[in-house]
Amino acid sequence: MSDPTSLQGRRILVVIGGGIAAYKSLDVIRRLKERGAAVRVVMTAAAQEFITPLAAGAIAGERAHTDLFDARTEFDIGHIRLARDAHAVVVAPATADLMAKMAGGHADDLASTVLLATDRPVLIAPAMNPRMWNHAATRRNLAQLIADGVQFVGPNAGEMAEAGEAGIGRMAEPSEIVAAIEPLLRRPAAGATSGTLAGRRVLVTAGPTHEPIDPVRYIANRSSGKQGFAIARAAAAAGAEVTLVTGPVALADPPGVMTRRVESAPEMLAAVEGALPADVAVFAAAVADWRVEKASKAKIKKEPGGVPKLAFVENPDILATIAHRKTQRPRLVVGFAAETENVIAHARDKLERKGCDWIVANDVSPATGIMGGDRNTVHLITRAGVESWPDRAKDDVAEMLVARIAAALGGK
Ligand code: CTP
Repeated sequence: MSDPTSLQGRRILVVIGGGIAAYKSLDVIRRLKERGAAVRVVMTAAAQEFITPLAAGAIAGERAHTDLFDARTEFDIGHIRLARDAHAVVVAPATADLMAKMAGGHADDLASTVLLATDRPVLIAPAMNPRMWNHAATRRNLAQLIADGVQFVGPNAGEMAEAGEAGIGRMAEPSEIVAAIEPLLRRPAAGATSGTLAGRRVLVTAGPTHEPIDPVRYIANRSSGKQGFAIARAAAAAGAEVTLVTGPVALADPPGVMTRRVESAPEMLAAVEGALPADVAVFAAAVADWRVEKASKAKIKKEPGGVPKLAFVENPDILATIAHRKTQRPRLVVGFAAETENVIAHARDKLERKGCDWIVANDVSPATGIMGGDRNTVHLITRAGVESWPDRAKDDVAEMLVARIAAALGGK
């Protein structure tokens, strides 16, 4: 569970841009307040078309700021103080227009002026139509903002507000945004000791692997990477030094996490071995069990003689390889088991076979909607027994798992 005091005494400025996701920023404010943060709100004119300053102010516990030339604000707080008083600034939703203004250094309203005047860490949660997100102008602005040190959370893939539109562009969930703020605010000394995984090295695998058949074709497993990314974020929020090794997924690098992107299982194994030593390793990736023995260098053409014969070889089992290591075996090795029947029995068998300490087992039969979804129902299988956790958000599964890991490792 999240630490209810993790943001105690921290001041966060939330800038709300004008998009349909603005309603979710109210939940971001609520979650920040719940964790003890003092929240101030700045809203663009467009944001006020979606939610009212009254609603945002009521949740923040202080009037929302909307105008650059507001006599009341300029006398008591002023835009420079708004920018500087905060320990961190969060822009949610960050529209394409707001990103363009930030990248260009514009200051023609309160939100853009505050963003230009701040010298604090800035986290933005983009939200826009997938075509706008993929537009060359937005890509340029994104590259500029990354170069300027702006941190990102999301956007995620999924359905858009516009009927029939899907792709990358949905704002990250409030829980993801809050989890991304925590690392930005980590106090160098005090924060490091207060984190339950402070000083620990955590390695996480996520996503599918792609095994090439030829330069244009591959075989893969279904996996969105969401659960593994959530675990990496939760471990980083708990103060760990996290390396995330991920196969191809449509998710942004979690802030504060060393993210290594790979394609195939052999590459994933090499990246995992390169990330050792680690105190804990969590294997959430859906690794392809087989790869084509000899991927063709040229595209395989359709021939009149029939379909090509592909010979497969088994991929290395990354979890088993690491769990059976004689040297540099992490103290706690956690595997996942994706099953469609006899979930617990198969998972128990996997625990023994692969030599890991814990298995997080889930039922991925299509009816559950777990594959690609945001929720998960899991069983934690240890040598001591089985705990079944009721259905919850993948972020909450990640937080619970991280809390269990921290408890198992004990205090430093
Ligand atoms: N795993 C791995 N490397 C592989 C295959 C699996 O590291 N080549 C890890 C996964 O990350 C997961 C666990 O092993 O933590 C179990 O994965 P799963 O796909 O459920 O098991 P399989 O090994 O494929 O077993 P089976 O085919 O019997 O279901």
